[in-house]
Amino acid sequence: MSIKTATLNGVATIEIARPEKKNALTQAMYQAMADAIRAAQDDAAVRAILITGQPGIFTSGNDIEDFMQRPPQSEDSSVFQFMKALIGSDKPVVAAVTGAAVGIGTTLLLHCDFVYVSDEARLAMPFVGLGLVPEFASSLLVPGLMGPRRAAEKLLLGDPFTGADAVECGIANAVLPATEVVNHARRVAERFNTLPPGAVRDTKRLMHGPQRERLLQVVSEEAKIFAQRLRSPEAMEAFQAFFQKRQPDFSRF
Ligand code: COA
Repeated sequence: MSIKTATLNGVATIEIARPEKKNALTQAMYQAMADAIRAAQDDAAVRAILITGQPGIFTSGNDIEDFMQRPPQSEDSSVFQFMKALIGSDKPVVAAVTGAAVGIGTTLLLHCDFVYVSDEARLAMPFVGLGLVPEFASSLLVPGLMGPRRAAEKLLLGDPFTGADAVECGIANAVLPATEVVNHARRVAERFNTLPPGAVRDTKRLMHGPQRERLLQVVSEEAKIFAQRLRSPEAMEAFQAFFQKRQPDFSRF
């Protein structure tokens, strides 16, 4: 099982557990995460959601083989169900970034309420280098969070960045030693056991409700271009280069 879920002491934990493929996410894993978020939303015993990975790796993003063989066909596909579930969650979501967070591994953090990053983690949104475009409304949220200059470094160049950079540019709350990041994130999630859930829910709706429609619209606009780019010769070259463990060559495009 590549997604482990458990509810303990008011916290629904979603653990990405596919270390042999660096926690790359398949459609089945997105579906499991979407189902887990929806179940947490409906379970009165759950006061907060914790998303975490494995030591040294949060997630390497979408499974590139899946991208090639089973590209998302419509907005009903599992990845979009996951995005919609996370954007729509009224319960607080805490992320423990246990290591590298690539692609959607970083963009999903934009939709979490609290983000704690291991001091060993590197984050990156290398969509352009893969012949793709940003997703999960990151084309809107990243420039809004950090301004267009720093967004250009991360989205146009795809430069990787540290947890400290993520804090500085507003993606994360704090950097913690690798051995402490999950426990710290869990302690923050457990604080919601002592807070009134109705007030938490209404506050989250007030904070995010007005923007949700806009985010879903951007997700949808990005998805159309993303789907075209997935079939592009540029993306094919990037994916083949990844599996052949070589640098891609875009000189002929
Ligand atoms: N999709 C499919 N397989 C992936 C993957 C992904 N996103 N990320 C890693 N893997 C696989 C590798 O192909 C390799 O498989 P193999 O053992 O069968 O050869 C295995 O996981 C280990 O990956 P490797 O690259 O050797 O690990 P690393 O520690 O050197 O590097 C990363 C880790 C995360 C930096 C690197 O794997 C990476 O850059 N992955 C791709 C990230 C990416 O571009 N994601 C898509 C964003 S849209």
